[in-house]
Amino acid sequence: MSLTRIYKELKRDLNDIEKGIEEAVASDHPTLHQAGYELIKAGGKRIRPILVLLSSRYGKKDDPAVKKAAITLELIHTASLVHDDVIDNAELRRGKPTVKAKWNNRTAMYAGDYLFAKAIDIMADIQNPYANQVVAKAMREMSIGEIEQIKDQFNYRQNLRQYLLRIKRKTALLMAISCELGAIASGASRSIGRKLYYFGYFMGMSYQITDDILDFVGTEKQLGKPAGSDLKQGNITLPTLMAFRHSDIKAAVKRTLDMDNPSAQDFDGVINLIKQSDAIEVSQEISTQYLKKAYNILNDLPDHSSTRSFREIADYIGIRKY
Ligand code: IPE
Ligand code: IPE
Ligand code: MG
Ligand code: MG
Repeated sequence: MSLTRIYKELKRDLNDIEKGIEEAVASDHPTLHQAGYELIKAGGKRIRPILVLLSSRYGKKDDPAVKKAAITLELIHTASLVHDDVIDNAELRRGKPTVKAKWNNRTAMYAGDYLFAKAIDIMADIQNPYANQVVAKAMREMSIGEIEQIKDQFNYRQNLRQYLLRIKRKTALLMAISCELGAIASGASRSIGRKLYYFGYFMGMSYQITDDILDFVGTEKQLGKPAGSDLKQGNITLPTLMAFRHSDIKAAVKRTLDMDNPSAQDFDGVINLIKQSDAIEVSQEISTQYLKKAYNILNDLPDHSSTRSFREIADYIGIRKY
């Protein structure tokens, strides 16, 4: 199961959106141009534009607002990655050096801001105050989510609720509004827009949990970034949190993270402890629960080609490896 069929189905629209994104990241300024353009060219799954397009098909066809919404959301996502790689101290993104690695943190701050500004510019074209507010809210929540993550680094006392709220803010809401805005921009009914919002939300929760699991079980080649980075940065994600239910593992993780200069082997040791415990399976189970909620919403949507495509996306998220 992959997204190949969906890419084919949406090929024409996705090509237009890709052009729109490339135009948006083009800049007269060489550093800003390179930073944005290279990140876009390095790949990415374009999940958010796909969600916008599929959602828009419940409304009337071919409103230009739909593609603008899709471009906006991908730009916001791209900008958030540039900033996220600063706070996560990440060297690789989509298999290429991050903006912060290639230049520095200060450049990444403004390269990210530049992309956010481009997003706002395109969004304003839609001339729908409600849609603009929805986007602004998601951006505010994402900032809170990322700040909360910084605050909770090395915090061994955090609970599942804190983790779930954090990933809701940093990831799931953007997916939720991708679906909602597709519906709004195409004039689909409000009730369908609400349902799609919740589909995006539940799917987004599962998506981030999977991302956090892959950080433990994936390889650098699959992920385009080094595996095990979350724990090394002191980011306590779901697998670690679930492993903390075993006091010996919790003590070992704490001991390693509290060391002055833990070595790669020290980290491999605790990462293996977590992987060998039931933590990955329990995390997968929680991810599956969210995915089930997403499928339930789909059962409540009209029988439509997009409903079927959303089902394929949910299937893909259930088994994705990168
Ligand atoms: C990465 O998002 C950040 C998360 C929300 C997990 P994606 O997995 O959508 O990243 P790209 O755009 O495909 O690179
Ligand atoms: C997702 O967080 C990034 C944002 C939502 C801004 P992560 O830090 O978990 O994502 P990756 O692993 O860097 O892609
Ligand atoms: Mg992060
Ligand atoms: Mg990160």
